[in-house]
Amino acid sequence: MDDDAAFIEQCRAAVERRLAELTPDRAEHPRRLAEAARYALLSPGKRFRPMLTLLAAREFGAEPPMALDAACAFEMVHAASLILDDLPCMDNANLRRGRNTTHREFDEATAILASVGLLNRAYGVLAEDEGLTPALKTELSRRLSEAVGFHGLVAGQAMDLEDRGRDRSPADLELLNHRKTGVLMVAAAQAGALIAGASEEAVRGVGEFARCLGLAFQIHDDILDVAGGADLGKDLGKDAGMATVVSVLGLDGARAALEGHLEAARAGLAGAGVGKGLLAPYVLALFEARKAAA
Ligand code: IPE
Ligand code: IPE
Ligand code: MG
Ligand code: MG
Ligand code: MG
Repeated sequence: MDDDAAFIEQCRAAVERRLAELTPDRAEHPRRLAEAARYALLSPGKRFRPMLTLLAAREFGAEPPMALDAACAFEMVHAASLILDDLPCMDNANLRRGRNTTHREFDEATAILASVGLLNRAYGVLAEDEGLTPALKTELSRRLSEAVGFHGLVAGQAMDLEDRGRDRSPADLELLNHRKTGVLMVAAAQAGALIAGASEEAVRGVGEFARCLGLAFQIHDDILDVAGGADLGKDLGKDAGMATVVSVLGLDGARAALEGHLEAARAGLAGAGVGKGLLAPYVLALFEARKAAA
């Protein structure tokens, strides 16, 4: 393993350890709620959002420990969103990260409460982070609230659920994918840059990078839904009958759109005069690995 790969592995391991420390202890009462939160959060995910935070921070000179808790807050929000996304009233999924979905392993009420608990805990983690100035905590909390909120993730999920059988224009799909998936990535990556004290222009560049990346990521997720294998660890064919970039453009068209967004992502970073660190190589390697799966 070269030095860069070893560094990325160390970051991922640091996220795993810190997530386990920041989550309610199993012994906590009521035990079932704490267990469900731990089950959803600590199951084997890619940790893509916290890695964006850590690598964006390093891009501007902040070492991972400075941004670790903020990175974990983004993973908590992500895990909370997955619990809800899988519920019977949403995607009605059975499998997540190679295991039962949280509501199947526990029950729906416990899953919903665990999701609210994790979402709430994310803000607490930011507030308690002693390495951040009060001004930065406020700014990161404001940005997180915007990313989750009525113009962000929950709005995207609501759009996703609206009249699933109807046709959608490419512009509609782009807005939907940006909101349900992109905005959290933008907030996660920009949080790293802000923690490192990057310039406004650099924060904008990192945001544009993550915006394009979010669009590419959701298209690839939709490709995997039709072309992925059992090793994906989640239900396949969940998007049947629903307008996605794959159903509108076909598999080849979706793959071309994905490449276009990745190219734009790289240009976004370079345009802001950043992108010499590991952020772009990490992201591109992850996409390459996932492409091998479909
Ligand atoms: C799944 O996200 C939800 C989408 C936005 C497509 P990930 O593919 O990052 O899932 P985990 O965290 O690795 O399980
Ligand atoms: C969900 O998109 C994005 C979220 C905000 C959770 P999907 O519904 O396609 O994600 P998967 O395929 O279940 O992971
Ligand atoms: Mg969904
Ligand atoms: Mg889903
Ligand atoms: Mg999907």
